[in-house]
Parts: sequence; structure tokens; C-alpha cells
Amino acid sequence: MSSTTVTLDDLLPEAQAAFAAAPTAAALEDAKALFLGKTGRVTELLKGMAALSVEEKKTRGAQINVLKTGIEAALNARRSALAEADLQRQLKAEAIDVTLPGRAPGFMGSVHPITRCWARIEQIFGELGFDVGDGPEVETDWFNFTALNNPPNHPARSMQDTFYVDLTDTDGQPYCLRTHTSPMQVRYALQHAKRHAEALKRGELPEIRVIVPGRTYRVDSDATHSPMFHQFEGLWLGENVSFADLKSTYLHFCKQFFEADDIVLRFRPSYFPFTEPSAEMDIRFESGPLAGKWLEVSGSGQVHPNVVRNMGLDPERYVGFAFGSGIDRLAMLRYGVSDLRQFFEGDLRFLGQFKG
Ligand code: PHE
Repeated sequence: MSSTTVTLDDLLPEAQAAFAAAPTAAALEDAKALFLGKTGRVTELLKGMAALSVEEKKTRGAQINVLKTGIEAALNARRSALAEADLQRQLKAEAIDVTLPGRAPGFMGSVHPITRCWARIEQIFGELGFDVGDGPEVETDWFNFTALNNPPNHPARSMQDTFYVDLTDTDGQPYCLRTHTSPMQVRYALQHAKRHAEALKRGELPEIRVIVPGRTYRVDSDATHSPMFHQFEGLWLGENVSFADLKSTYLHFCKQFFEADDIVLRFRPSYFPFTEPSAEMDIRFESGPLAGKWLEVSGSGQVHPNVVRNMGLDPERYVGFAFGSGIDRLAMLRYGVSDLRQFFEGDLRFLGQFKG
């Protein structure tokens, strides 16, 4: 009897030690089998009771049950401990440190510097009441040259300067890629001819006040010329719209565009077939990195009566100015870029600098 009692007492700590030593849930189930399984130690004890008397069975059975309950409790305690440890391990592995700085996204792309300038130009002139016009890049000879008072043999028509398209228009003339945005002067006026005619009938004299930014093309390629470049045309026609208006308008634009107050503007006599008189507009910064030099920024002039006539308007009543400026040139000055070609090469190291 006494030896049996000792065995029973030893069994619980033995089981507790075996469970504690099981490092995983699977190992714990193996350890459980050693004690509570079909051939386990407790089961063997129960089998061993067969030989005992009824009285002995009572006490022995009760003792074994206490032991079994103890072992089961130890097993469950270890099971929860292992499950808890697993959970902690998982939480730790998936932990998020909310105090770490966020991961910045990579290069997200940005608006192209030419597009940024284009948008600025539209905004500044928009605030002055200028409409924004748009028209074709593949242009007829008539709109690109003839309507703008170019004589038939004007050198600008030469194949050395102009890209021609293998396609002729209804006049039998080859289409060209527009060499400037000036054809939009006449196109825009004609686009609005019906509205203007109706207003004129009512005794009004509707003004034309528009800018037209867009792509233009010339056979030309070096650090300051690209075969494709950008211009914006300005046109303001009405009653007595003068060079003084041109000067104040364009100077206001320059100050806004360059975010500088100390800019002066001068006219330099020039020649364009579609304006008379014609002038180059130069600006000079009085301070800053560009200070002191006269910078040529735009062709301009009073719109030639022949052009006004081609717009379907009366040159005796409609007087005003036009100008054509290079957007790329303005962008180069604004950003201090010395080679125009950089705008069109698509190098992200260059383009990535124009953010925000
Ligand atoms: N179209 C001219 C050019 O491309 C610029 C210009 C426009 C000049 C309007 C006068 C008036 O050089």
C-alpha cells in the first residue's frame, strides 16, 4: 500500500514537470498522452485497481481521481500558457510602431515646368479679362501666312523654316505645322464672328480680348531653339486699344509672372507683316540674378488693317494690338534654365526639381 501511495504523490509533480518542459502545443499533447492516454500512467493505475477489494477500490479510486483532476488542471494551465505565449509572439511580430516617421512615397511625378508656366499665363491674363483660345497645330497656308498679310514669296514660307505636311488643303496648298500662334488671331475672330455681328447690330462694339497658348513648330534646333516650342498669342481689339494698353498689360503680366515689381519694359522697332507698327518688347530686371540686361521676350504690334479685314471686322472701328511670346523662353528666365532642350528630354533628375 505504502509504495502505491508514494507513486501517486510523485505522479502530479512529474506530470507538471513534463508539461512545463513541453515547448509547443503539439509537444504538450504528446506529454498528455504519457499520463492520460490509453496506455498512460493514470490509465495504468486505474487498470491496476481490478485486483483490489471493494473497500480499497473506494479509497484508491478517490485518490486516483484527485490525481487525475490535478493532472488535467496542470495540462489546461500549460495549454493556456502556451496559447498566451503564441499570441504574444504574434502580436510582437505584427507590432506597428506608430511613433516611426511615415514612409515617404517615391517620386510621384509633378507638373512639367512648361505646363506650370502655361497655367500661370492663363491665370494672369484671365484675371485681366482675357479669354483662352485654342486651335489646330496642323494649319493651312492661308491662316498661317496669307491671312496674316504675308506676301506669297515671304521667306518665312520657305521649306528651310517651315515643316510641311504631305497633304493639300482646298486651295491646293500644302498644310504646315503652324510656325507661330498668330493664325489664331484670325481663327478666334472668325470663331466668334456670329456673336460679334449680332452685337454690332445692337449698336455695341464687342471687344476681342484673348490669349492662345499652344505648340508651334519651326525647322530650328540648338540650345535656345527646339523644332517644337510653345508660344502664346495675345490679341486685344476694340475701340482705341493702344500701345499704352499693350505696355501696361504686358508689364503687369511680367511682374505677376516673375513675381517681381522692379521690371521695366521697352519697345524696340521691328517688323512683322501682320502688325504695323511692330515692336519687340524687351524687359529688364532692376534687381535679382537677371538684373541689368535687356531681355527680349515678345514680338508685338498694332494689328494690321488687312488682318482685321480678314477677321471679318472693320479696321476703321477695330484697332488694337497683338503679341506673341515664347512660353519656353519665359520658363527659362523664370527658372534660370540655360538649355531649352532640357525641357523636352524627359530627364527626371531635371523635371523632379519642379515640385510643389
Ligand atoms: N508671330 C510672331 C512670331 O512668332 C510674334 C508676333 C505675334 C508679333 C503677334 C507680332 C504680333 O515671331
